Amino acid sequence: MKIAVVGCGYVGLVSGACFAGMGHRVICVDVDAKKIAMLKKGQLPIYEPGLEELVDEAVRKKNLSFTVDLKNACRNSELIFIAVGTPPKPDGDADLGFVENVARTIAKEIRSYKLIVEKSTVPVQTGHRIFETLKMHAKKGVRFDVASNPEFLREGTAVRDFMNPDRVILGAESKKAREILTDLYRPLKCPVLVTDIKSAEIIKHASNSFLAAKISFINAISNICDAAGADVEQVAIGMGLDRRIGRDFLNAGIGFGGFCFPKDLSAFIRISEKLGHDFELLKNVQKINEDQKKVFVRKVEHALWNISSKTLGVLGLSFKPNTDDMRYAPSLDIISDLESRGAKIRAYDPHAMAKAKTHLKNVEFCKDSYAVCRGSDCLLVLTEWDEFKELDLAKVKKLLRQPVVVDGRNIYDPKKMRALGFRYFSMGRP
Ligand code: UDX
Repeated sequence: MKIAVVGCGYVGLVSGACFAGMGHRVICVDVDAKKIAMLKKGQLPIYEPGLEELVDEAVRKKNLSFTVDLKNACRNSELIFIAVGTPPKPDGDADLGFVENVARTIAKEIRSYKLIVEKSTVPVQTGHRIFETLKMHAKKGVRFDVASNPEFLREGTAVRDFMNPDRVILGAESKKAREILTDLYRPLKCPVLVTDIKSAEIIKHASNSFLAAKISFINAISNICDAAGADVEQVAIGMGLDRRIGRDFLNAGIGFGGFCFPKDLSAFIRISEKLGHDFELLKNVQKINEDQKKVFVRKVEHALWNISSKTLGVLGLSFKPNTDDMRYAPSLDIISDLESRGAKIRAYDPHAMAKAKTHLKNVEFCKDSYAVCRGSDCLLVLTEWDEFKELDLAKVKKLLRQPVVVDGRNIYDPKKMRALGFRYFSMGRP
């Protein structure tokens, strides 16, 4: 198939590369000329395991190309995915300005049948708006369909998630749209659920909100475990053995970040409000998530007695491992809170330091984990990168000014840490 993917962010780039890897002819489009120039040179704007190889190979086979020319890409493709950003507005609403602009440009360009598919996460009823925009601006008599095909990939495992999804959701209301999309996804061996467009849109927001709720739930439980002297990990295992609950997404920590959960939660709360439902449950999910960062800072204070004028070593800055993404990373709020209390921060992250430097002006960035430890009064774990789990802890202890570790991601064994002589604090574990 000839496919255009509009928007070269995480979702667009990964989807485009994967469709090309499946043998389709894909043009990825973005208004950002700098980004397109980079991609044409074989450089990726994001760090994502496996993506570079996939892009290189698809480009070599001439299945993948990049352009800023949306009009041309539209004319040359039958299937057009909209994967542009839907950033949050100050009131939490998703900003759909980019989606509207793209829909309008597509409308003006199309001369033959096109299937326009929304892949960005959008509030329910956006598909309808896209359809109306096309109807208003397209030449009379030109046929088109609009469909919704939400993407569930996670950063850090995006290519694997795209190629091995738990399910594919197709919100498609015409026979032709259903056939094209079912054909496209046939090689992926997974359940395919065909729904109406609005239900597909809600499936995406409801899934992300549910997962975020699971994380806030276990974080609330971890605070109760802390107060009662219980172990949240045992609790999560015990709960997870119930197949209706499942163990995934029950890892307590410093809260969720990234560009999806925080933004999608706000957008879902807002659209629910507009539809007449006050989604209080999700507001509490947000509140627990915000509070969790303060819970961590209180633990640091408890561990150190006074934070002011202490040097704190931070391991991990990205919102989760295997990504360089700093958007809504809990580390940003935590570091700013600690700095406002007079702490000096030294930090290391395996991939996110370049991006982190633009946000964290007063932090001293170190070349590795051991450099972070040298001379610090306390070590803080904010992202659970594998390399932190494999540190030589005896060496860490020697390098620290005092053997204090506050682990926001529960990566070390409390008993072992104490046996090594650390004062060790983690989330919801005695
Ligand atoms: C998420 C959804 O998982 C994905 O389906 C959707 O398409 C985009 O949003 P992503 O943001 O890449 O993906 O990361 P994810 O692995 O889901 O983690 C999100 C945040 O939750 C991270 O900050 C992570 O540290 C946190 N998290 C996750 C926890 O704190 N505990 C958990 O048990 C799981």
